[in-house]
Amino acid sequence: MLVLGIETSCDETSVALVEDGCRVLGVRTFSQVKSHEKYGGVVPEIASRIHVNVLHYLLEDLFQEIKIKPDDIGLLAVANRPGLIGSLLVGISFANGLAFCWNKPVVGIHHLEAHIYGAFMEEGKQPQYPSVALIVSGGHTQLVQVDALGEYTLLGNTLDDAAGEAFDKVAKILGLSYPGGPVIDKYSQVGDPGAWSFPRALLEDSSLAFSFSGLKTAVLYAVKGYGRKISQTSSTIPERMVKDIAASFQRAVVDVLVIKMERALEKTRARSMIVCGGVAANSELKSAMHAVSNRKNVPLFLPPLFLCTDNALMVAGLGWHKRHQATSFILETYSNSPINK
Ligand code: KG4
Ligand code: ZN
Repeated sequence: MLVLGIETSCDETSVALVEDGCRVLGVRTFSQVKSHEKYGGVVPEIASRIHVNVLHYLLEDLFQEIKIKPDDIGLLAVANRPGLIGSLLVGISFANGLAFCWNKPVVGIHHLEAHIYGAFMEEGKQPQYPSVALIVSGGHTQLVQVDALGEYTLLGNTLDDAAGEAFDKVAKILGLSYPGGPVIDKYSQVGDPGAWSFPRALLEDSSLAFSFSGLKTAVLYAVKGYGRKISQTSSTIPERMVKDIAASFQRAVVDVLVIKMERALEKTRARSMIVCGGVAANSELKSAMHAVSNRKNVPLFLPPLFLCTDNALMVAGLGWHKRHQATSFILETYSNSPINK
């Protein structure tokens, strides 16, 4: 069955065609980064308007390449939770409109569940359960026990910022571009991760929760301290210092994610591990998680770059597995939505 996926939960507008959950026919993703970068973060109103403007162009373009007719599509799958509510509503309205015109069923997809699914969809087979999934994106940082597709237990959540959000905010403090993750990743490769001693929060007990706001504040004080040393008003930091702070910050984030992942694997006696979401694109996190996988002898599922950040492929792929929940239109959408409900 051919599924048309639609993803508009944040600042990526994406449509994709996937057959039987894993065979990728095509995808079109429009990144809105250029429109949000001057604000240093996503502006919800702008995001919604851009989704409205580009969705139908992406779909037309995709249809032209794949040369299919609406009749070839068996199901529409659309991310309906969690996310920016205005953005989600654009995707859902688009999906409902197509479902009505084409007389096709439509299914609502949990965006975080789609990230988890994206980690193994290319393989065409599911990981061994129980699995531990670390979801690290711009809006979420969670550890989830996965007992089957659709069966989740939340093990730990962030108490404040998400990991990706911390990358974005720290990049802003350092005067780097938005989104912060890729640029900090790049600077870290030429910086000294031991140059600055930044805090690793919530390590002392057996907690699986996360906190990144103290780390972000520590970076802010490091930069402010330097500004005070050279002049009250200066805001430019030497290139060397930017690289070292980026590398030391990234090391602190990766250290915490690794320790918590290891804890979660032990606690659940997991038979596989998953790392997904935009921050899963981080080169240091990837190699650290491969090392965990080898140390613990637990297979790692980590999506390729195009499936890490937001995309409609993961939505279309998961949609096929949820086809029995499809209806003629979608009413429900939530900005917050626990993955285990
Ligand atoms: O999953 P995603 O595309 O959107 C949300 O669902 O939030 O994740 C976006 C986040 C951004 O915060 C971005 O800075 C981060 O993923 N990111 C990275 C990297 N690439 C993207 N963080 C660290 N290293 C990267 N290479
Ligand atoms: Zn996402």
